[in-house]
Amino acid sequence: MKIMILEGDGIGPEITKQAVKVLKAFNLANNIEYALIGGAAYEKYNDPLPQATLDLAIKSDAILLGAVGDWKYDKLPRDKRPEQGLLRIRQSLNLFANLRPAIMFPELSHASSLKPEVVSGLDIMIIRELTGDIYFGEPRGVSVNQNNQREGINTMRYSESEIVRIAHIAFKSAQLRKKKLCSVDKANVLETTELWREIFTEIAKNYPDVTLTHMYVDNAAMQLVRDPKQFDVIATGNIFGDILSDQASMLTGSIGMLPSASLDENNKGMYEPSHGSAPDIAGKNIANPLATILSLAMMFKYTFNDEKKFIAIEKAVRKTLQEGFRTQDIYAAGSRLIGCDEMGDVVVERLEV
Ligand code: IPM
Ligand code: MG
Repeated sequence: MKIMILEGDGIGPEITKQAVKVLKAFNLANNIEYALIGGAAYEKYNDPLPQATLDLAIKSDAILLGAVGDWKYDKLPRDKRPEQGLLRIRQSLNLFANLRPAIMFPELSHASSLKPEVVSGLDIMIIRELTGDIYFGEPRGVSVNQNNQREGINTMRYSESEIVRIAHIAFKSAQLRKKKLCSVDKANVLETTELWREIFTEIAKNYPDVTLTHMYVDNAAMQLVRDPKQFDVIATGNIFGDILSDQASMLTGSIGMLPSASLDENNKGMYEPSHGSAPDIAGKNIANPLATILSLAMMFKYTFNDEKKFIAIEKAVRKTLQEGFRTQDIYAAGSRLIGCDEMGDVVVERLEV
């Protein structure tokens, strides 16, 4: 078992450090190797995804990533920016299936901006296609057009096989849950997503036990705040999934709680918190490491088929919350405010290895 750790930028190093404590508690310290990505890699190698990192990633069974990005890199040429490191590693490793669960921990129902009765018991799985769509479509770029005006172009594009493989992941995931799959598109306007809808409808015939519905993305955004509990599994393309998963995360109180998995055809995966690098709070020991720790839990479940360790980590996190330990993003009066580092220790102390 080879696990690569990519700390990244901003709060990345401090949150991944807490997940590494969990790996150490499982006696897996010898199975980890570190490499650079994002701004940290740009500083040292002038490249947000150096070849050495990619080589090691290819050799690893799983990757744990903190976060990438910092405003100070926003002026760099696009290919040098930290986000490109992330997009390139997703594409190079063919990590097309992005699983973003949005689960409400009962202890945090007060932390949601929605009423507790709307969000209590919430358990949604967002499946976002991660290596296609307008993120990667060609042609792209900014050029000068015939009218001597600057013009920006991006291309929304999906091939049949790309849609088919993510559809199978979505249906299979629904089968293991409440058997409800909502495919989100904009088929009333965009041909690409009309094809998406058609293919999902065709694939549904292989999964008679799953109820498939379709929803336009604007309506889905509205329904997510109106009545989020109507959803079980949501499947959507790269750009819609980027937006809807941020929205869904906030239903649960804090984006600091939500893990994610990005998987290839063989369940090799990269695991990262759904939140970003938060440079404004980096190095202050106030970031919430629970999304990263829960991402590690997902690694054991999806890549290593080790349900026991997955459950052990989840249980330790729940216990930590039940006992009232909180970082500032989920703090409420009466709970016990602690820092990022302490949160890692508290979870490890409650871990049954
Ligand atoms: C995400 C992030 C990335 C994305 C950025 C950092 C490139 O927002 O993982 O959701 O857009 O996919
Ligand atoms: Mg995003």
